[in-house]
Amino acid sequence: MRIDFDRSACQGHNRCYLLAPELFDVDDEGYAVLRIDGEVPEGLERKAQLAADNCPEYAISVEG
Ligand code: F3S
Repeated sequence: MRIDFDRSACQGHNRCYLLAPELFDVDDEGYAVLRIDGEVPEGLERKAQLAADNCPEYAISVEG
């Protein structure tokens, strides 16, 4: 599974960080930072999907 994060769409709701802290961090301005290079580590697929489903700005997408 791959995950993609669109920084320009992020508005800092931080649901991604709360739901999947293994995948997301928060920068100094409150916006999300993707902690991995795009390939979701095994076992974190459900959290990746949750983060994508719960971002109100549709800034996160997963495929595969
Ligand atoms: Fe940004 Fe969406 Fe996360 S707006 S902080 S990517 S929940």
